[in-house]
Amino acid sequence: MDHIYCQWMLFAVLLVYAHLGQADDCEAQCAPEDAKAWDPVRNESTYDRDPASINQPDGRPLGYQLDTLDYINDANARSPCVTVTGCINYVDIMVETDPLARICIEDITTDAATRELICQERISSCVPCPSEEVTYQFSCQGSSCDQSAVNFWFRFVLSDPAVLDPELWCFNRNTDEYPSSLYNNVPVPVTRAKTMPTGRGTSLGATFSLTLCAFLTVIFIARQ
Ligand SMILES: *[C@@H]1O[C@H](CO)[C@@H](O)[C@H](O)[C@H]1NC(C)=O
Repeated sequence: MDHIYCQWMLFAVLLVYAHLGQADDCEAQCAPEDAKAWDPVRNESTYDRDPASINQPDGRPLGYQLDTLDYINDANARSPCVTVTGCINYVDIMVETDPLARICIEDITTDAATRELICQERISSCVPCPSEEVTYQFSCQGSSCDQSAVNFWFRFVLSDPAVLDPELWCFNRNTDEYPSSLYNNVPVPVTRAKTMPTGRGTSLGATFSLTLCAFLTVIFIARQ
């Protein structure tokens, strides 16, 4: 009986450690020096409009760039960040995920009290430049990525500082121009990034195991 109990204890302690590590990762914020630089396609009339570009390594469909939000239980999950430079006037931000998930974008350059966090399934936001150099961090909202890794396409278009009416410039931007629009608005799965096996009720199972761990640990300590 004691022997079985000890095995349970060891299992429980391991689970607790696994959960502590995970909690650290969840709070991780990217260091601005780890951010990749946004590489703009400056001439919009040269955008790649071939749907095949979505599945090509280094493809730039409609000028977008690809990155991945790691599966939430991935021990090495990163916080993807992108730095945009030369932001003088307005910036048109567009993001699309695959599979569709609620993604958040946050300007981590601006003071935490005033920065804005935008979370949507498809993001289209045309706003005044917060600063000449802006670092944006991407994250998943809630449990949006707890079934698999999520690819996301992102694009930043800067208005020409010479534009006299930047709000009109924003108004005239095409807010439907996402990579999936190259398929006549029928989203097609991107097959490039790895996808973790899915499991139903992941977070419920995790909560249950954490509760069980805590319970067993308390008993273990009480018996010492
Ligand atoms: C953008 O590209 C098009 C097509 O290659 C070209 O005709 C046009 O002159 C370019 N515009 C600028 C501002 O470079």
